[in-house]
Formats: sequence, C-alpha cells, structure tokens
Amino acid sequence: MSSLSNDKPAVIALRRWLVRLSSLPGPSLANWFVRIGYTLRLLQWTRNNPCLEFNGKGSFSNRDLFGNVLAQADISGAIDYLEFGVAAGSSLAWWVENNHHPDSRFYGFDTFTGLPEDWYYAPKGSYSTQGKLPDIRDPRCGFEVGLFQDTLRPFLAKNPLQRRKVLHIDSDLYSSSLYTLTTLAPLLAPGDIVFFDDFGGLKNPVDDFRSLHDFVAAYRIGFELIGAADYYRKIAIRITGKIAD
Ligand SMILES: C[S@@+](CC[C@H](N)C(=O)[O-])C[C@H]1O[C@@H](n2cnc3c(N)ncnc32)[C@H](O)[C@@H]1O
Repeated sequence: MSSLSNDKPAVIALRRWLVRLSSLPGPSLANWFVRIGYTLRLLQWTRNNPCLEFNGKGSFSNRDLFGNVLAQADISGAIDYLEFGVAAGSSLAWWVENNHHPDSRFYGFDTFTGLPEDWYYAPKGSYSTQGKLPDIRDPRCGFEVGLFQDTLRPFLAKNPLQRRKVLHIDSDLYSSSLYTLTTLAPLLAPGDIVFFDDFGGLKNPVDDFRSLHDFVAAYRIGFELIGAADYYRKIAIRITGKIAD
C-alpha cells in the first residue's frame, strides 16, 4: 500500500462528516446525479458515433435495423441467436422467420413472469405472459425459463455456442443487461453482433447504455456501431475483439 495515497487524519474526519450528512438528500438525489452523468455521456457518445439510421416506425423501426444488419453483416448463415427478454416473442419470431439456415439455433431467455425489478415507468412484473411461452413452432428454437442470473450459466455449460453469435438484449434493466454481457464476455468473438433494444432513449440512459459503457470499461472488449433505429433508441454493434493495451 502506498503511503502517498493514505488519507490524512483531517481527510478521514471530513469523510466521517460527509458519511453522516449523506442520508440528508436521500437516495433519489444520488440516482439523479447518476442519471445526469450517463445522459451527458450518452449524448456525447451519440454525437461521436454517426451511423446508418432507421427511423420513423416507432418500436418497429428495429425490424428495418434487423433486416439491414442481417444483409450487411452477413448473418444469414448458421448463427446462435440468444434473445434476453422475450415476453410474447415478437422479435424472436422475426429472427426465426428471417434466418432460414437449418443449423441456426434460437434461444429465448425470460422469466415469462415479467420484469424482476421496477424499470422507469414499468413496474416489476411488467410484460408478464403468466408463464406462457411464445407459440413459435420451429424445432430450431427453444426457451430458458427463469432469471438470466439462474439460467444462463447452466445453459452455457450444456450449449458450447460454436456458431456465430447474435445477441439481442431486450431486458430493459441495467442489472439484467450487465449480467448478460459479463457472463458472455469470454465467449464474444470478433464478428459477433449485439442488438440493444433500449439503448439511447433519454428516459433510460442508466440501463442499456450504462451497461455497455461499464462492460467495455471493465472487460476491454471493442466494438463498432453498425446501425441504429429510432434515433439510437435501438442499436446494433459488431464485436471487434480485445482492446489493445
Ligand atoms: C420489453 S420485454 C421483451 C420484449 C420482446 N423482446 C418483444 O419482442 O416483444 C422485457 C422482458 O425482459 C425480461 N427480463 C428482464 N430482466 C430479466 C432477467 N434478469 N431474467 C429474466 N428475464 C428478464 C422480462 O421478463 C420481460 O419479459
């Protein structure tokens, strides 16, 4: 331990006071500061990352983004498609219908009882299908039911994921998205594609944007932005590999 970085007694006393005073503003002020900080970072990131955009169809703009990436990133071959946040299965069904390769596999992860935590305007339990799985009758498609935090590691132990990976993160929450990215980090390879469904909205810069930001800082995995929809609300990135020292 370096003596240079040790706090002096006066600094420790000051910290004691600050810790005592910290309960006065309550947790919501702290959350607002975090939100403001990530909002600013998101705006700057958007400015610094121009890309092809698909706008004008609201939440269905992601279909145009999917279609474009499917063609330009050449993911019509055999893929392992993992969707985190499936609910009734509308986006998963799109992928099953639009990638016809017989060796592709499609895996949908969800509790199917809704969000495990409150998310912005959607309370815990939102998007529940009361446990009902989507009616997607394609033998290439399967479901992992439960929290990602309980299902993803056992799933990976059984499924080595040897095809090109396409991840679709549509789970809204920072905790869910960060868990998914960090758990899959050792398996991400150059060329893999990751979609984020709620990345750049001003309502929630503390969820998907924050998780990608924090993930890249910790794991040093590089990416390039390859498309956006709904003015960066949804994005697609291509993994480029380890960031050099
Ligand atoms: C916005 S919905 C998904 C919408 C879907 N992709 C579609 O096309 O309509 C978000 C889903 O994420 C799921 N979810 C969020 N965090 C989760 C977690 N940690 N484990 C399992 N499911 C989670 C919720 O249950 C919810 O169904």
